[in-house]
Amino acid sequence: MKKTVLSCIQPTGDMHFGNYFGAVKNWVDLQPKYKCFYGVVDYHAMTMPYKPKKLKESVWSLVINLLAVGVEPENLFIQSLVPEHTELGWIFNCFASYGQVSRMTQFKDKSSQSEEKAGGYISAGLFTYPVLQAADILIYKADYVPVGKDQDQHLELTRNIAQRFNNMVGKDYFVPPETLHTETPNVRSTADPARKMSKSAGEKHYINVFADEARMRKQIKSAVTDTGDTKEGEMSPGIENLFNLLKATGGHEAHASLMDDYKAGTLRYVDLKTAVADALVEISNPFRERKAELMSKRKEVKNRIKVSSAEIRKRAQQTVKEVKELAGLANVRF
Ligand code: TYM
Repeated sequence: MKKTVLSCIQPTGDMHFGNYFGAVKNWVDLQPKYKCFYGVVDYHAMTMPYKPKKLKESVWSLVINLLAVGVEPENLFIQSLVPEHTELGWIFNCFASYGQVSRMTQFKDKSSQSEEKAGGYISAGLFTYPVLQAADILIYKADYVPVGKDQDQHLELTRNIAQRFNNMVGKDYFVPPETLHTETPNVRSTADPARKMSKSAGEKHYINVFADEARMRKQIKSAVTDTGDTKEGEMSPGIENLFNLLKATGGHEAHASLMDDYKAGTLRYVDLKTAVADALVEISNPFRERKAELMSKRKEVKNRIKVSSAEIRKRAQQTVKEVKELAGLANVRF
């Protein structure tokens, strides 16, 4: 039996190189070896202020982006087409510790943004979001979860929920899943290396995987290198981030030779930036081409993903049926 991999991404706009090098590239690489489930999690995207029409568009545009970078259609589902996630999410709300959920740093970060955007309203969904995430993972009994470093705390909560459920039912029903990181699990913003690359901080803080070449080059050219507060002998976070991006693209030779220059004190930042920009453009060229092709058959793509979601749903239904049985709930659906 192949081991199972599960991971998800929120449909909240462009896919950036943090998403790609931190997680999605790994999703693609793991497909030949494992049984993989990859979700576009629209229920999660409702936890912050949003517009319904925009959400719908973002879901399909993310589906196309994921297919364009190499996710196989049969592995891809849309969360709201598998509503059992929310059912298991409720059940898990009763197995998650309030204290632990209160300590989630992502809630703290996002609730301050939500407060600004929505005029003082922070949704309860944002608070219980990591519990739904635990349901996303455990509903497929995932062995491995490929994610960026920012998800570690959520994975820890997932393992605790699995353990608590197992203790209650007196059986090792869920296997606590393992986190998988890439070599670059924490890509930083090129405009401000003190923060992670992310959409929520604004357009200059992320590089869209599908941006045109000119924009990509411009963003790398203006990347912050020295921040002034680096200690003697330490690499500045901006330079380290550029080296990490280069490594992530697979440009090992260029990486090694520029690193030699850095160690010798002869590195010209412009050379490092050019190497990174060249590598990003080269990686993304075929993605842009495939995206254009997929955009021309949107209808077909939609139908395909509806079918794969329905297929994947069967596995989720089976888990929920077993969980309800174990948890002492009525089970009339099967
Ligand atoms: P999301 O949509 O913010 O990001 C999707 C994936 O990209 C990774 N990532 C990064 N990795 C490295 N450096 C960065 N700067 C960077 N920014 C984003 C994220 O770690 C993630 O792996 N809560 C999740 C979505 C989710 C999920 C799940 C993930 C819902 N249910 C179940 C795994 C399993 C999130 O908001 O990811």
